[in-house]
Amino acid sequence: MGASKIKAPRGTFDVLGEEASRRTALEARARSILEGAGYERIETPVFEATELFARGVGESTDIVRKEMFTFEDQAGRSLTLRPEGTAPVCRAYVEHGMHKRRQPVKLWYLSSFFRHERAQAGRYREFWQIGAEAIGSEDPAVDAESISLLAALLAEMDVRELRLRLSSLGSLESRIEYRERLQAYLRANQESLSDEVRGRIELNPLRAFDSEHPGTQRVMRGAPLLREHLSDEDAEHFAQVRALLDAAGVGYELDPTLVRGLDYYTRTVFEFTSDALGAQSGVGGGGRYDGLVEQLGGPPTPGMGWAAGMERILLAGDGGGAPSAAGAPPPATLAPVELFVALASSPASSPEGEGEGEHPREDLRAAAFGLLSEARSAGLSAQMDLGGRSLKGQLGHADALRARYVAILADGQTVLKDMQGGGQEQMATNAVVHAVLRGHHAL
Ligand code: HAM
Repeated sequence: MGASKIKAPRGTFDVLGEEASRRTALEARARSILEGAGYERIETPVFEATELFARGVGESTDIVRKEMFTFEDQAGRSLTLRPEGTAPVCRAYVEHGMHKRRQPVKLWYLSSFFRHERAQAGRYREFWQIGAEAIGSEDPAVDAESISLLAALLAEMDVRELRLRLSSLGSLESRIEYRERLQAYLRANQESLSDEVRGRIELNPLRAFDSEHPGTQRVMRGAPLLREHLSDEDAEHFAQVRALLDAAGVGYELDPTLVRGLDYYTRTVFEFTSDALGAQSGVGGGGRYDGLVEQLGGPPTPGMGWAAGMERILLAGDGGGAPSAAGAPPPATLAPVELFVALASSPASSPEGEGEGEHPREDLRAAAFGLLSEARSAGLSAQMDLGGRSLKGQLGHADALRARYVAILADGQTVLKDMQGGGQEQMATNAVVHAVLRGHHAL
């Protein structure tokens, strides 16, 4: 009896074939845009002390309350698979004394993150983010530059039906003051609210703006807005961010109801959405977190950044396509293969007749490998079959790769086939690379 098949866990996916090439292309675009703007790559550990997220992201957030993969190590310490990257990057900033470097310190990452969410298209339990954090300056130009860089990346990836929502939450003090005002308003209208929102008045009143419950939505239309409670300084900061975005030609909509699912935000917050994504419309978002570094034990330090989901960028980008579900493999990457090296099969090509059936001639493998590396050193893209297939199987593989030429090695002699022109010619194995480089007119 065969053993049962083991599948990838729910909400996770393998990256295969064409999907892998699309991700590589996205990474290259991100690197060139961000490193061009002075961001340095950073990678932090996959797991951190649970307290980093409890303190950094916030005890009242959905992420900390129900979405973290938390476990104990052998010594009983509580560890958590990172659900996001900003708290870890700020932890690293403090740990490595980066406040002594020229500010702001600009860091970017491309890493996987983990949230125990209900899995569906565009929402996974392990997903990848491209993120950028600029720590150590409260200049509104940092906000505008940061947002513009993500706008540029999403434009280059042809993300469809893109909208940018922008708001300001003000300083921590004005947020606290506003929160109390909103709680009072919600309590006064509680009979019209959904049970969920009513249950969250004390813990997270801002989430009421996100509700789809009709009664709650009616109440929220009359709710006090944070924007009306910004201090003069915060209002001026926000006005400058907007003016810089206008000057950079980055379009946005002001949305005073914009709620982000993390507690560390202050002042500027924003989110890029794509209607092409359906329910999971958030492609990328972020904002300022001027209190976070201090909250993690560092000196008072402002910060600003964003993260964008790789899978969502690719889903909403032109060409669509999701990470492959189980089942049919995605089409193979079609980087052009100029030369495919194949081995003649025994016994047909073996006078001794040793070995029954159609096996590749193992005695030719070293010569084939030699030819393969000779071709690669000459700058050709070259492959050979590593699966021990018969000659027929190898030629099928060469076809699938759309190889331009196939060299079939037999004793001392090699046949070079032109897969496009259809011709073929026998030659010494050491003449093959030269012939391919010449474009082999003679075939
Ligand atoms: P976030 O909005 O939680 O922000 O996530 C950023 C992006 O990650 C989302 O817009 C989405 O594209 C992607 N994402 C989030 N959860 C999932 C999921 N379950 N499956 C697939 N994609 C997902 C943050 O994480 C902040 N750290 C952003 C930030 C950086 N703020 C300041 N600096």
